[in-house]
Amino acid sequence: MDLKEILLNLNIVMFGGKGGVGKTTCASSSAIWAAEHCRNTLIISTDPAHSLGDSLGVDLPPGEPKQIPGIDNLTALEINPKANISEFRGLTNINPIEEMGMPDIMGGMPLMEDLQELTSMNPPGIDEALALLKLLEFVETEHNYDLIIFDTAPTGHTLRFLSLPETLSGWIGKLIKMRIKFGNMFGAIKRIITREEKKDDNSLKILERLNNSILNARDDLTNPLKNSFVIIMIPEEMAITETGRLLNELIKNNIPVSNIVVNQLYQDPSDLCNFCRARREMQQRNLIKIREIFNEKLGKNLIEIPLFKEEIRKYSKLKELGKYLINNTR
Ligand SMILES: Nc1ncnc2c1ncn2[C@@H]1O[C@H](COP(=O)(O)OP(=O)(O)OP(=O)(O)O)[C@@H](O)[C@H]1O
Ligand SMILES: [Mg+2]
Repeated sequence: MDLKEILLNLNIVMFGGKGGVGKTTCASSSAIWAAEHCRNTLIISTDPAHSLGDSLGVDLPPGEPKQIPGIDNLTALEINPKANISEFRGLTNINPIEEMGMPDIMGGMPLMEDLQELTSMNPPGIDEALALLKLLEFVETEHNYDLIIFDTAPTGHTLRFLSLPETLSGWIGKLIKMRIKFGNMFGAIKRIITREEKKDDNSLKILERLNNSILNARDDLTNPLKNSFVIIMIPEEMAITETGRLLNELIKNNIPVSNIVVNQLYQDPSDLCNFCRARREMQQRNLIKIREIFNEKLGKNLIEIPLFKEEIRKYSKLKELGKYLINNTR
């Protein structure tokens, strides 16, 4: 499938690659193209160092979707990289003192402290994981977008992001088990002490709902009829190596990839100074390798994009780039 078909037919498109190669620019440009072709589009930046608002030329409040003025059908969102942990505190901590309705003074007892430590499951990176959790839940439930475009962070972070559903699901599974085990045990003791009626455990329901969102998101991301990952690269040796690694990891994670954008290509040599002509030659040598490896051997569509004279920012430049993204596939 080429990028045009992807933008017109799929529900999720992710743009990723090495740092600074043009991920945000290509993602924004594609989002504008899709929005102007009747698809209600949401573009989400998952890079903690956001630049989506800068690219589109609008201020984006962290964590809140904003309709882009002047472009019908386009909404943008920069996710808040750190979720507010207190929002999730009731879900992540199982506090035996609270569960049993015991006086606080018991919290000072060594056994209780050990138990509390054991049951407080805040693994490292939890804030980032919870931010993703909120995002996945949003993507899986409450929206009416036809297409969600992800402007991702540079490769390493994105690979961690893509493996998070598995990690999170395992972690939530453990929490659910612990809540059931401890919840039943402490709840029964508490009811004997306080003669309270048995109440529904709301947090357990929330955890189960979150887990379902994660598993659905995992299914969507690996479904070639729903999602496609577009790799952005520049025609340099190091980028070829990194793109190969990224592609392998994506294949390993069952994420569909059919398009690779080769960005920032120097054009007509007659216009160029000696320095730029030398860079163009270097690029052309690498472009031959890129076509051979990714286009001929692996059958990926290559989209070749010229280096623009100016920075590509805001509506009219992004729209101009869109023409190349849609028409320059080989
Ligand atoms: N084909 C091009 N011609 C000229 N400038 C370009 C081109 N593609 C991207 N740029 C410029 O390169 C800069 C970096 O682009 P962008 O922010 O899209 O990269 P990125 O991969 O998202 O970076 P990061 O890894 O920091 O998120 C921007 O100033 C953008 O305008
Ligand atoms: Mg970026």
